This record gives sequence, structure tokens and C-alpha cells, in this order.
Amino acid sequence: MPSWSHRHLLGIAELTREDILRLLDEAERWFDLPRDDVKNARVLHGRTIVNVFFESSTRTRTSFEVAGKRLGADVVNIALQTSSVTKGETLLDTVRNLEALRADAIVLRHAASGAPHFVSSHTRASIVNAGDGAHEHPTQALLDAFVIRRNKKDLAGRVVTICGDVLHSRVARSNALLLGALGVEVRLCGPRTLMPREAQALGPTVKAFERFEAAVEGADVVMMLRIQTERLAGAMIASTREYARTFGLSARTLALAKPDAIVMHPGPINRGVEIDPRVADGDHSVILDQVEAGVAVRMAVLERVIAAGDAWRATA
Ligand code: CP
Repeated sequence: MPSWSHRHLLGIAELTREDILRLLDEAERWFDLPRDDVKNARVLHGRTIVNVFFESSTRTRTSFEVAGKRLGADVVNIALQTSSVTKGETLLDTVRNLEALRADAIVLRHAASGAPHFVSSHTRASIVNAGDGAHEHPTQALLDAFVIRRNKKDLAGRVVTICGDVLHSRVARSNALLLGALGVEVRLCGPRTLMPREAQALGPTVKAFERFEAAVEGADVVMMLRIQTERLAGAMIASTREYARTFGLSARTLALAKPDAIVMHPGPINRGVEIDPRVADGDHSVILDQVEAGVAVRMAVLERVIAAGDAWRATA
């Protein structure tokens, strides 16, 4: 197996197909390991991981915390409202101070696209991108691929439809890059105002669709996205009711997908807007499996980047 050289995880764009498969395989190992064996492994015993979340989060922040603790690390959480950023401290100074506290890894969520990339070249700690603006959310795409692979076995040739506010979605972008690298056909769909102009530029297997029904037809996976109101410059949909009627996933629309199609959503869900609650809670839904998978995937990521950070520091 080729050695792992990334001391940071900044985006799927930086990973090779082999890197992605390696993380998925290592996540499988953590996922399947009995809880007592995980506890005894303590591969990050004595290490410090700091979660710096300058945007709200339930799933990502909590699962990074659980992942770090399961590996035996000390995990500290910092939120924007209680940090000295509110007193004018810069992001870079924040990161440098955390490094001075001997943080081995800093897990960063930030509203600005590129923020993790910027700080990564100014610190000896490993930086893990937990979502930067509308740019990337690499661990979400990894956990999504993990769940798809567990449900569908082979990924190559599968059809994954991603529908909603694609324009502002870091999840859609990371998924298109990752799934494309694994030979999946990715169909992006949403209202014209919420679609990027160059959706196909995300990869040779990516296609843009205007009609939701056409995008869902024959799909193996239907992934729904929330409208990111926090990133909208102004009104980009006529009304929520009309949006739900045109782009909301109902049992009727889901019936166009393959009979064994799975339904995914990165969360948080806006029930009755992008997804009918009966579909979100129905037999095809793997939404909570995604949350569960997040812990094993983040364990694999933390173990890998901290080991690469050790190797880098030994030679730097
Ligand atoms: N999927 C996701 O990023 O959810 P949170 O915003 O709750 O972390």
C-alpha cells in the first residue's frame, strides 16, 4: 500500500482515488471493530485535538469529538461566540495559539472558503477541514461514500442524484469530486438559480439536470440538500411551497429511482421542504446511518493525518 503523505485533510480535490479507498477501508475497520477493542487501541492516547467551529454544527462537531475520544485523544471544543475572535483576534492568531498549546490536530469549520487551506501552511498542527464556506466538506463526502459502498458494494457505474441548493453546497462539491474519482455517475439537480454555471466542470461523470424527475429516474442513490439560507444573497426561490412541489423528494418521485434506491441527506433536514418526512423516516432512508458512519470515517482521518504530521515534524 502506498504511504499516506497528507498531514492535513483540506479537501477531496487533494486526494487520489487510492487515498480515498484507503480512508474508506480504514473506516470499515474502525466501524466493524468491537467497542472494547476500539477502547483498548487508544492509538491517539496523549494527543490533543481541538475542534474550532466558527459555524453551527451538530453532527460534524460531535462526531469529531466522539472519534477523537474513541481513539484516546484529549478533545477540546471552541465555538466562535466564546472565542477571542469576538474581541478581534484573527483566525491565524487563534490557530497559532492552539499550536502553542501543543494541539496535534485542529478541526476547523469556517464560513470563508479556503480558510483551512490558508492556515494549514502556517502551522505545525494537522488541519482537518470540517466545512469551509461553499467550498468543501471532505469528511461528509467520505462518510457518504462509506454508506453508499456498504449498501451498494461496487461504486463504479452507480448513479447518484444530488438535488437542492447545489450552488452553495460544499457537500455537493466534495461528493461530486469523490464519487467522480470512483467512477460514479453524479447527477446534479436544482432550480436554475441554485445551480453552479459550470456544474459539469466538477468531473467527467457529472451531469446537470433541470427536471428533478429526470434526475431521479433509475438512480441508485438520491441525496437531498437543504437550501442554505445563511449563504443566500437574496431570494433565490419563489416560495418554499413551490420549491417543495418541484424539487422536494416525495414517495411519488422516489418511485422513479431504482426499487432498492437509498435516500441520503447530510442534515440538518428541513422536513416538508426538500424532503417529505415520510421519505426521510421511510424504509429507503439511510440518513441516520450517515451520522453513525461519520465517527468511523473521522477516526480514520484523525489517525492518518496525525501520523503524517508526526512524520513531517520529524523531518521539518
Ligand atoms: N452534515 C453536517 O455538516 O451537519 P452539521 O452542520 O450538523 O455538522
